[in-house]
Amino acid sequence: MKETADYQHAKLRVEELRSQIAYHDHRYFVLDSPEISDAEYDQLMVALRALEERHPELITPDSPTQRVGGAPVETFGIVEHRHPLLSLSNAFSAEQLRAWHARASRLIERTDFAMVCEPKIDGLACALVYEDGALVTAATRGDGMRGENITVNVRTIRSVPANVSAQGGKSSKSKGASSLPVRFEVRGEIYMTKSGFERVNAERGEAGDPLFASPRNSAAGSVRQKDPRITAGRPLDAFWYQLGWSDDGVAPRTHWEVLSWLRDIGLKVNPNIKRFTSLDEVIAFCEGWVEKRESLDYEIDGIVIKVDDLGLQRQMGAVGREPRWAIAYKFPPTQATTLLRHIAVNVGRTGTLNPFAILEPVHVGGATVQMATLHNEDDIRRKDIRVGDTVIVQRAGDVIPQVVGPVLSKRPSGTRRFSMPKRCPSCKTEVVRNEGEAAYYCPNRQCPEQRTRLLEHFVGRGAMDIEGIGEQLARLLMSRGFVKDGADLYTLRDRREELIGIERLGAKSVDNVLANIEASKKRPLARVLVALGIRHVGGEVATALAQQFGGIDALMSATPEQIAELPGVGLVIGESVAEFSSRPENRDMVERMRAAGVNLVEERGPAREGPLSGLTFVVTGRLERLSRNEAESLIKAHGGAIGSSVTKKTDYLVAGADPGSKLAKAESLGTHVLDEAAFASLLAERGISV
Ligand code: IVH
Repeated sequence: MKETADYQHAKLRVEELRSQIAYHDHRYFVLDSPEISDAEYDQLMVALRALEERHPELITPDSPTQRVGGAPVETFGIVEHRHPLLSLSNAFSAEQLRAWHARASRLIERTDFAMVCEPKIDGLACALVYEDGALVTAATRGDGMRGENITVNVRTIRSVPANVSAQGGKSSKSKGASSLPVRFEVRGEIYMTKSGFERVNAERGEAGDPLFASPRNSAAGSVRQKDPRITAGRPLDAFWYQLGWSDDGVAPRTHWEVLSWLRDIGLKVNPNIKRFTSLDEVIAFCEGWVEKRESLDYEIDGIVIKVDDLGLQRQMGAVGREPRWAIAYKFPPTQATTLLRHIAVNVGRTGTLNPFAILEPVHVGGATVQMATLHNEDDIRRKDIRVGDTVIVQRAGDVIPQVVGPVLSKRPSGTRRFSMPKRCPSCKTEVVRNEGEAAYYCPNRQCPEQRTRLLEHFVGRGAMDIEGIGEQLARLLMSRGFVKDGADLYTLRDRREELIGIERLGAKSVDNVLANIEASKKRPLARVLVALGIRHVGGEVATALAQQFGGIDALMSATPEQIAELPGVGLVIGESVAEFSSRPENRDMVERMRAAGVNLVEERGPAREGPLSGLTFVVTGRLERLSRNEAESLIKAHGGAIGSSVTKKTDYLVAGADPGSKLAKAESLGTHVLDEAAFASLLAERGISV
């Protein structure tokens, strides 16, 4: 196309407007200090929109007009992180912080190192990649190695610059300067403000939509929206705190320098970050924020302490996924009191009856709580919790809220001690309680509630991961007789027409669900094992079983003892698997899955090779230099296996102080026992540095 003068002019003007808008966005959203009025800002946007309407070919994804969100995406792609996103070990007291500092000091043989203290934002981790100054990818943490590509959604967050430059927001006419690497990755946390969360929930309440439980859940839900226009309407923000990697150009020596570089190029850095050299100051800072955090408009669940010197960080390294150079000081849980309206009981997928509290909604630690777990009858009776009581509710981080106990001085008259219902709330079968167990069960395996829960579990995230079947649809499919278990889902393909129209289900959603069911046939064996809902078989155990047995047939014909030989898998699990396999209805379900073409074998990847391959360790007692977790991660990282109990298969028992019964067991079996020093020399001999 021949570029007319008008077009040429428009192009220049569009660029100029964008750079002005970027400058004012930075002033407003990152620095919180605007230079122009909202009306003046709006005029710039109006002008830009008008030009883009006239010349749509000038619209680019990083244009500020596109912050309202582009077209919806079908699924999020996967982003492989060049370096894994690490997590943090926790300290719950000043004492544990001192222990961390002492360990760190021993490692680097000095005590005078500087530390940077940062609020630990309760949001979700995100990694941004900039290329030639432009934002090209934004990804979630995922499992640390691979995350989801959420670029379209992150582009809608106003404080995240679509473009960065060496002078950042300092000048609206910045020309790229030398210290901006061609490609680099920054890491940080996306969050929703508390006030924004209240607003979103108020709107959802009015619209009759389900409420979000916390700002964190709301933020996580918002960035995983398939339609970025919805994300654009959510009050999201972000703080950036790490340079993941960079190709060239910057070589900071300290974390403090990284933070100021991030600020310089235009990214939003938390203003409450401080640097200290004395541990006492660090502790005072942490404790100071316990109360002060209420004053922030975003939730923090602790303080992250990082060794400032990047050279020292490298020297200290990581154990598994947890760096030794950083630790999270976690705030104590928050509590509130409220009225216990009712104790309800639901039926779990294994038939357990789970009592839970229905509360007068109350604000605890930033979230509205209206339900809380009550564990079991014994626990409720021991704490003497009664309907009508004012109770203390506690919430710690992301865990399910708990009822701590009643406020006896506020107990009204006429309350009654709690007892479990004698019959299953769903199928009215008489409930049973096994000797020595706290839980009551509904023994009826056909109980509709159990089956529904099992189906929900089958389609859940860690299992077959079939999107589009939530609690409601699971219930519906079950109650209308479409399915009686997960395997039946694979027959739904032939009943498409019947499904369309039930309870507002359109053809499009039906096709979507059917496609998701079809796709789930390729899930790895470990997921299938989880989906079957065998008691005690969660993700980790399932992975171990899948790798060891290679296929469902070998697993289902194994004896409990053969299964129990696997490191980390005991006889309880062995028996549970064997019991499952012995039931004809379960065998039948597996056969129907096989007939439908569901994958039932393990694709064998190469086992992790390392200097400890083929060796099984059990770690017990208190170690001095490493925590037990650290020791276990180290062993696994170098190819070794970890057992939970000492058996004939155990090669070494690593025993710290107060080792308990495992030491006696090892001695009786003649297992090699290593104290911490001997363990350290074994590692050193095999070239593993701690
Ligand atoms: S540093 C070693 N700094 O907390 C690097 N993390 O529990 C690990 N988080 O996955 C991250 N605020 O999502 C770091 N100022 C902060 C943080 C922070 C929140 C999150 C982050 C991380 C998790 C670890």
